[in-house]
Amino acid sequence: MKNDEVYILAIESSCDDTSCAILKNDVVLANITANQKIHEQYGGVIPELASRDHQKNIVPVVEAALQKAAVKLSQISAVAFTKGPGLMGSLLVGASFAKSMAMALQVPLIEVNHMQAHILAHFIRQFGVESSELGVRSSEAGTTNYEVRTPHFPFLCLTVSGGHTQIVKIHSHLEFELLGETIDDAVGEAFDKAAKIIGLPYPGGPMIDKLAQSGNPNKFSFSTPQVNDLNYSFSGIKTSFLYFIQNNVKTNPEFITENINDICASYQNHLIKVLLHNFEIAAKRHSIKDLAISGGVSANSELRKQLKVLGEKNKWNVFIPPFEYCTDNAAMIGITAYYKYLKQEFCGLNEVPQARFEL
Ligand code: KG4
Ligand code: ZN
Repeated sequence: MKNDEVYILAIESSCDDTSCAILKNDVVLANITANQKIHEQYGGVIPELASRDHQKNIVPVVEAALQKAAVKLSQISAVAFTKGPGLMGSLLVGASFAKSMAMALQVPLIEVNHMQAHILAHFIRQFGVESSELGVRSSEAGTTNYEVRTPHFPFLCLTVSGGHTQIVKIHSHLEFELLGETIDDAVGEAFDKAAKIIGLPYPGGPMIDKLAQSGNPNKFSFSTPQVNDLNYSFSGIKTSFLYFIQNNVKTNPEFITENINDICASYQNHLIKVLLHNFEIAAKRHSIKDLAISGGVSANSELRKQLKVLGEKNKWNVFIPPFEYCTDNAAMIGITAYYKYLKQEFCGLNEVPQARFEL
């Protein structure tokens, strides 16, 4: 197979989204995701239920992706899957499926680190789709091609998701250096747990984002933890939020309903200030001008806005992924696998997923 015609079939199943993408080189032909609604009623992801839903969804999702991409199984050059980090039961479904498929098609298998994939989402290209908000329109062989503006190496990425908060220096497509990370909760958890405290459904991040839009971000204040160097801590902020709500509800039982927008706006603003504070220090310390965000929380409208403002102030080139590549998706697994394919970085059929998997 020539390297200019690499077709990757990628599977992502690390948490509660079952996703399959088909890429031709670095271009996404299909990216189909089944979201699991079952967890909403429990206020968080139930691992056992997640694995069962992956089992149910994986075949239909793969079939839908192949159909949308109009690619035959015989064209697939390699199969990729998320090795970790994630929920073991969920990872096992994707890994087992990917192995069986690679074995049946007699093509190489590629394991992908989910956190690297969130970052490499910045290199995904797509044809004829207008969702790439930073895409520059150009024409290629009669099709509409939304070229993605990509960061230059080395660049920094703030990866913010439900399980991780990391500042990473990226030296090349496959070389990552961790500069700082959370020592306890991830920022996505800080969003989701606060949302639960004020009675919002899971996942709370998007709801807080929405309600915050008509609130006052400076009405209430919360504690700022002291953490070493470029690391983060969100567990104390979440606890201070809990006490703040409990104390106010004691004196006014209607406190939450009367102030929901201001509560969301102030709490969200506080989390973003904490996130961007360290990110700015890291950029200055490493003299880096290309800065990116990735992961589920990078869908947050206020974070996107504040990063752009900070970027203008510091003359940074800011990179924000299109919404569909912020939260978990298989296209980001596919793009990472594509760069591994170019280096012939394949794994054996005895590869085992890892719930904890270093960057
Ligand atoms: O990357 P992701 O889909 O899954 C993990 O790998 O964790 O991230 C999910 C997290 C959840 O905590 C969710 O609340 C958060 O991303 N999230 C948001 C927004 N959209 C998703 N948080 C704040 N604002 C949003 N708009
Ligand atoms: Zn993720």
